[in-house]
Amino acid sequence: MFGYGVVGQGLHDVLEKSTGVRAEIRRICVKDKHKKRRLPLRYFTFDKRDILEDPEVNLVVELIDDADEAFRIVGEALSSGKNVVTANKKMVAEHLPELIRLQQDSHTSLLYEGAVCGAVPIIRNLEEYYDHEWLGSVRGIFNGSTNYILTRMYKDGLAYTDALQEAQEQGFAESDPWLDVSGMDATYKLSIIIEHAFGLNIRPEDIFHLGITGISNHDIRYAAEKKMKIKLVPYAGRVGKNSLTAFVLPRFITGEKQLYQVDNEYNGVIVEAAFAEKQFFFGKGAGGHPTGSAVLSDISANAYDYAYEYKKRRQTRNFTYTTDVNLNVYFRYLNPEDRALLEFTDISETCSGREYSYIIGKINLRELMEKSEQLNQKSVSVINLGDKPT
Ligand SMILES: NC(=O)c1ccc[n+]([C@@H]2O[C@H](COP(=O)([O-])OP(=O)(O)OC[C@H]3O[C@@H](n4cnc5c(N)ncnc54)[C@H](OP(=O)(O)O)[C@@H]3O)[C@@H](O)[C@H]2O)c1
Repeated sequence: MFGYGVVGQGLHDVLEKSTGVRAEIRRICVKDKHKKRRLPLRYFTFDKRDILEDPEVNLVVELIDDADEAFRIVGEALSSGKNVVTANKKMVAEHLPELIRLQQDSHTSLLYEGAVCGAVPIIRNLEEYYDHEWLGSVRGIFNGSTNYILTRMYKDGLAYTDALQEAQEQGFAESDPWLDVSGMDATYKLSIIIEHAFGLNIRPEDIFHLGITGISNHDIRYAAEKKMKIKLVPYAGRVGKNSLTAFVLPRFITGEKQLYQVDNEYNGVIVEAAFAEKQFFFGKGAGGHPTGSAVLSDISANAYDYAYEYKKRRQTRNFTYTTDVNLNVYFRYLNPEDRALLEFTDISETCSGREYSYIIGKINLRELMEKSEQLNQKSVSVINLGDKPT
């Protein structure tokens, strides 16, 4: 095992309390030689070769917070014939085609249920349960830390920075919280989900994402007045017969929607399928024990030689990715000159106030992508109203 932080210790706990899983941790590789550990020192090593070159090790569990080093570890392990379980979504999303090739070449298996929505079993369900089902869209709340922050801002009026600090103290945030709040973490998960739901590899940098750093108490009040909440909602869905679009944006959620009840560090995933119709998965999306439980499920699956087959790849010939779609959004700004930042094709509502102003209208996703940098720098927010992209 690599890493003994929030998830590593969580896995150790659940492994100790679980019966029937045929697994034993032989060695744990960590980085900091001076850190106090809950286990005797003889379990630990600081040299990755002690694990990677040990012929007795048949499974490597990678749970470190450094995606580049994780990729080197996972690459070496797979190349030398060892199966791998990981919870590192950044590493998986950034290298998925290469990781698939490595598995095929070395006849090994890489499993990563814990990387996507913590304890919510979504990857294996997309891969197995929906293997022949035509999926229309997958969306939801994929990031526990931002959901915790938005919940605390909405329910308790906390300022954004205080809510973020709390999320970090609770162990829900990534070591680098920018990955969470910028929407990048949700984008990595969406990219992995797209591979298993639609058989396309869309690189994270090709998916438009806007996180929650621009969400102000004005937006939260606006939502509350209309009995809505704001959630960070990644979306991937078909447009017409042969195209798929995807993006990560904050979204207003009305009271009758399933995602309205998904608060704090919980995650929710909605899968729309042709015959099964709408299905909703709900569970803890972060934290040591929930994520440890997902990792343990992969360890158990490894014991019966389970490997992803990436079945949807075979079903999606002539399927293309498009960002040429229109979204209905709310655009809030403080400075009048920021009004010209976005070009709307259709405006249904405007409001100019002393404290803030907003526009509701249709905008092309490409326009949002082009303005991504400015949107992140200015005191503005863009919130999706949730209509189907057209
Ligand atoms: N936290 C969550 O709720 C959650 C949920 C889902 C997925 N994940 C993913 O799980 C992974 C681990 O997250 P975490 O929250 O457990 O992180 P963490 O608490 O910050 O722990 C990171 C661990 O990685 C070790 N480490 C870092 N660089 C290393 C290296 N080069 N060689 C060996 N060990 C190294 C650290 O060693 P030291 O102990 O020596 O510092 C530490 O034990 C990340 O990929 C994260 O994205 C986390």
